[in-house]
Amino acid sequence: MSQDRLSSAPGPTAGKDPLSNREREMLPPMAGMDATAAAAQESAAATLGRLAGVTVAVPDPAATAAFLGDGIGFAVESLPGGDVAVRCEGDYGPRGQTAVVLRQAQGGAESQELLAITWEVADGYDFAALAVRAAEAGATTTETPAGGLALADPAGNPLVVEPAAAHTVAPPAPGLLGPRRLGHINVKSDAPPRSSAFFQRVLGLKLSEQIGDNLFFLRIGAEHHNLGIRPGERGMLHHLGCELAGWHAYQPILDRLAAHGWKVEYGPGRHVPGRNLFTYVVDPSSGLRVELFADMAQIADERGHEPVRWEAGDRMTKTINTWGPTPPASFLA
Ligand SMILES: [Fe+2]
Repeated sequence: MSQDRLSSAPGPTAGKDPLSNREREMLPPMAGMDATAAAAQESAAATLGRLAGVTVAVPDPAATAAFLGDGIGFAVESLPGGDVAVRCEGDYGPRGQTAVVLRQAQGGAESQELLAITWEVADGYDFAALAVRAAEAGATTTETPAGGLALADPAGNPLVVEPAAAHTVAPPAPGLLGPRRLGHINVKSDAPPRSSAFFQRVLGLKLSEQIGDNLFFLRIGAEHHNLGIRPGERGMLHHLGCELAGWHAYQPILDRLAAHGWKVEYGPGRHVPGRNLFTYVVDPSSGLRVELFADMAQIADERGHEPVRWEAGDRMTKTINTWGPTPPASFLA
């Protein structure tokens, strides 16, 4: 596919290996992994389900819920104990998705701190094998009440892998035109290459594209990315990627946000990695950033795809926006 839409200069390279040599050097020793890494990765990728949702600390859950509900169009439900569930259709099927759980930031917790990134798996998922891969990568696993495992990636992001049945909710009743689902998250790491390698080896995600050793885009299945990793403060969220039905869906949502006084931070535009339409909006009460995206690339031919690698200097000139404008400083913080 053609990535170089902004310049006639040389474009990206397609790597032969999903892990760069530098990534491999940064990994801790993993006994026996050389012989089994490919098979383990394939197995995990075949059985890891959708990104179920995230739990995020915010200073005022009700205010953030109003932004996500009244502004963007999520269904909002207060939970016992003070959390707020932010829900949407999810996967076009019979199950809804609790895309976000908003939790009151407690003493010392920073706004946008990630308290959990939850991934679903189907019946029969081999949790014991996950525990082995995690241990080989130096991560400790603990069992969750729902029968899954909790662990942390090298950047300290708390991860939860649980049976899909534990995350089944009824789809919200038809209402405001809003996001269909949480499609990806974009997290910060103090060692992006190491984090990328961890998600590939332990959770079985596949590398779709990277920009230098700074930005990594990884996928579960055919969708170009369900996880983005960028440099930044450990354990913090950069944005939630929420899918809209298409270009036509932006107008009512952005008009609704504007009616409340909530402005666009960056966009509209089209990224090169993922080739998706984007518009970023930010909840003023928490700083929570939501990417409204649509038209994400699908990698249907796994055998024919090799990870695309851009040079670090290509980010602003060739990858950030095929339509031109670069982001404000707030987006890059
Ligand atoms: Fe994104």
